[in-house]
Amino acid sequence: MADPREQHADPQFWALIPAAGIGRRMGADQPKQFLTLGSHSILSHTLSIFLEHPRIRGVVLVLGPEVDPDALDLPFAGGRLFRVVGGAERADSVQNGLDFLAERATPDDWVLVHDAARPCLPIADLDRLLGDLGNDPVGGLLAAPSTDTIKWSDGGAAVERTLDRARVWRALTPQMFRLGVLREANAAARAAGHPVTDEASAIEFFGERPRLVEGSAVNIKVTRQEDLELARLYLMRQGRLQEGFRG
Ligand code: CTP
Ligand code: MG
Repeated sequence: MADPREQHADPQFWALIPAAGIGRRMGADQPKQFLTLGSHSILSHTLSIFLEHPRIRGVVLVLGPEVDPDALDLPFAGGRLFRVVGGAERADSVQNGLDFLAERATPDDWVLVHDAARPCLPIADLDRLLGDLGNDPVGGLLAAPSTDTIKWSDGGAAVERTLDRARVWRALTPQMFRLGVLREANAAARAAGHPVTDEASAIEFFGERPRLVEGSAVNIKVTRQEDLELARLYLMRQGRLQEGFRG
């Protein structure tokens, strides 16, 4: 018998960009997503990737309650950008975005959740994610194979064991799941107090196995001061920053 979740007429693709964090580890005078690289904010670079992609139907931007979207540097959106207010944790911000989408999209539509703080996502990786998962019943995430050997600690400062590196992946974003499943999984994991640091962990908690789609390590999450320099370099190499211009 066919999986009832597998099928259907042309599900739409939506992007959901959590951007309601405060950027504590960056320690700047404003949240890191509003810092400028070249002539645009990190957030603006990130939004452009999705707004310029022909297969993305709309973009849900989750901002902190105190942020005035009219005061932000945002790319041209042609009515396809929607603002939602975020919550205390990333998973709360994502839930608010999913609730907003549930009013406008169908449960089988795809949601691509992507950190505002990842402005260097290569278009080729986004295309690979869309292409590889388009017929999947559940979905998956971009991830990079670990190049370091990973140690599992005893909870303190000593090593308990070494993980098999061949099986260790670093979770990146976008993470792409069916709207209905992700909304239910995220709500269930939060209600159970299960730590949800990415969408895949909510889906795993729900008993499903997200697919791993290999993505490039240039898709960094700008987290600390030193990441700004790297992000600038990667954007420049992608031709998305003016050569020689330091913002
Ligand atoms: N985020 C969010 N709502 C929150 C917390 C985080 O929308 N309550 C967003 C951030 O804006 C970011 C993404 O989730 O785009 C990934 O989170 P992270 O890199 O941890 O950003 P911050 O939480 O802002 O940074 P820090 O943890 O250093 O404070
Ligand atoms: Mg955080």
